[in-house]
Amino acid sequence: MYPKLTINKIAVVVILTSLCSSLFAQQKLPYHNKNLPIATRVKDLLSRMTVQEKAGQLNQLNGGAFTGPASQNTDQLNKTQQLKDGRVGSLLNVIGVADTRQAQQQAMQSRLGIPLLFGYDVIHGYKTIFPVPLAEACTWDVKGIESNSQVAAAEAAAGGIHWTFAPMCDITNDPRWGRIMEGVGEDTYYGGVISAARVRGLQGNLTTNKNIMACVKHFAAYGLVEAGKEYNFVDVGRTQLWNKYLPVYKAAVDAGAATVMNSFNLLDGVPASANKYLVNDVLKNQWKFKGFVVSDWGSFYETITHGYAADSADAALKCFAAGSMMDMESKVTVNYLPSLVASGKVKISEVDDAVGRILTQKFRLGLFENPYKYQDEQREKSEIFTPENRAIALQAAQKSIVLLKNENNILPLKTTQKVALIGYYAKSKNDMFDFWVAQGDTTQAVSVLDGLKKYNDNITYTDGYLPNNTTNAELIQQAVINAQTADVVILNIGISGKQAGEDRALTNLNISDGQLQLLQALQATGKPIIVLVSSARPLILTKVVPLASAILQTWILGTEHGNAVANTLYGSSNPSGKTVITFPRSIGQIPLYYNHTNSGRPLIPGTDPTWHNRYIDEVNEPLYPFGYGLSYTTYTYSKPTISAISITPNQNLTVTVKITNTGTVAGNEVVQLYIRDYTASIVRPIIELKAFDNIYLKAGESKVVSFTLVPKRDLSFYDATGKPVLEPGKFSVYVGANSANNQQLDFMLK
Ligand code: NOJ
Repeated sequence: MYPKLTINKIAVVVILTSLCSSLFAQQKLPYHNKNLPIATRVKDLLSRMTVQEKAGQLNQLNGGAFTGPASQNTDQLNKTQQLKDGRVGSLLNVIGVADTRQAQQQAMQSRLGIPLLFGYDVIHGYKTIFPVPLAEACTWDVKGIESNSQVAAAEAAAGGIHWTFAPMCDITNDPRWGRIMEGVGEDTYYGGVISAARVRGLQGNLTTNKNIMACVKHFAAYGLVEAGKEYNFVDVGRTQLWNKYLPVYKAAVDAGAATVMNSFNLLDGVPASANKYLVNDVLKNQWKFKGFVVSDWGSFYETITHGYAADSADAALKCFAAGSMMDMESKVTVNYLPSLVASGKVKISEVDDAVGRILTQKFRLGLFENPYKYQDEQREKSEIFTPENRAIALQAAQKSIVLLKNENNILPLKTTQKVALIGYYAKSKNDMFDFWVAQGDTTQAVSVLDGLKKYNDNITYTDGYLPNNTTNAELIQQAVINAQTADVVILNIGISGKQAGEDRALTNLNISDGQLQLLQALQATGKPIIVLVSSARPLILTKVVPLASAILQTWILGTEHGNAVANTLYGSSNPSGKTVITFPRSIGQIPLYYNHTNSGRPLIPGTDPTWHNRYIDEVNEPLYPFGYGLSYTTYTYSKPTISAISITPNQNLTVTVKITNTGTVAGNEVVQLYIRDYTASIVRPIIELKAFDNIYLKAGESKVVSFTLVPKRDLSFYDATGKPVLEPGKFSVYVGANSANNQQLDFMLK
């Protein structure tokens, strides 16, 4: 009755039986017992691992698309074999349920069946693409930012991903740096608030399969790369490091981020990946970070190129000894850690600490209970790029837009006006997306032309300039003819989304000559011109301002870009975005930022500028200051009041102001509070943000906003060792609509 077993079939049965029994045996081991505390399970698993298997957990390989250069260390073994041998702890860039499932199956065949972590750069959405993080930051909508990250996490998780390399917490003052688009802007306090929101949104409590691990990057001070050039040198003093740069990473770590990524730069002459001060002393000891640290792509190996490590073994030793843990794509750890342990250069207890942290996250995610928890084909089909997610992305896109100019209230437009839409970027879907768009699909994105057509059939489109931003007589002529027959011109200028992100440093941030020539020709028609600026960083708009009736900074807004722009142009959405980065007047002013310290010879308007802190060919002021943005309505601020003119360190100060919407439409206003500390043992900025409130006001409505300043939290700063200091003396508080338009009150801290 029974089928005859051939030799092959017998072999299959034997293999299956032994596989099942080894799986069964594993199931019974303490580390598989979900009722035990994670720490006990980690300890048990570590006790069963060889040093080579431990080194394997510290190894992260690129399994798919390249987001960095090909590795300088060639693999002896193919990837599948390495997975089966337990030589890999994590893969990056393997995407989608089918591929991640296949890799996970291979890893589960390893001796101890330790599941892999799948990492991927989900920077502003997985398939539903949100505004670039810099634009999203301009919403000042903390809850919104948290839910955007939640959506990105849920979609990524449905695509098999456990871990994103976000948020980027690098403060920068340099728009030449392509990665400015990925960050929080120039303010430390605000950067911390939104980085924490991004972590909360991504991670939740990490117990559902809709959350993914966050990665705070790039630790530390990567936004300071000299001359805005990617992978460049960084030099920063300790007090500046502690006061301006570290607090943003710290806020994200305190929000519970599971991982932190080393940066590519040197700090005090030591590569960040091998920097004991940064990783061991600050992150692990001072901040008590309990998650794990991952290198940036190849950064362990690059310690050799920097001129710090002698060879691969030395690189592995120096990075590991500094406290860094998982090695992304360098392969020095997997190859050399076992011999470093054998020779006594690395203690096994240190290896256990690092590996234990990685295993802890795998247990936390529930991967030992179900390694395929994130591999659900059904979910992948139904939970990604849903109409609900797109609706959230649209809200985010609308709120990110910053109205820079609106002469004679030319905006919002009326649907009866005939529109000439000009500008290649208004139509080109390819240029709407930047480098970090994960699985975003340009063909499904909404261009400005698509968006406007929903409001108005009476639109004629012409390119005006070529994809490389140059123009010619014919294109200008077509555009001028188009403009002449219209009531209003909408001109979309700027740069491609592709000119943003990693490895996209620029020396020229001016609007191109071609686009300016086009703008001049259009202005000569006498038609009102609304300028839309596409760019994932501030460009130099100084020559544009006098030629345009209105300017909207429309950034790179993601899938719903065109709908958001159209809704704003026609007033269904009242712009409320405010800049989180200073817009310079000229490239030579860079770095230009609002919260600088005072010179000993500041330039005082209306006084003789000779021998003072200035340029002789440019003013000091930016084109648009930090915190700036207009609305279709107007707001007035009452004279603010403070609860006391003198407080002690244990007394809070309340600052109150009434804001009234004096226009005819409802809107959101971002009310900002800044302080100045006049006599500190470490000179403090001339003004620094300490609080804000984003309030909604109907036309004619007033609201009283109160801020509470807690001295220990809001009036202190760090010394060079990272110790908070609170010092008595004179302070000012400023309340207003932006960093350059506010009202001042003074008080004393006794
Ligand atoms: C290098 C980038 O600096 C980092 O931000 C990114 O997460 C990794 N590559 C992985 O793609």
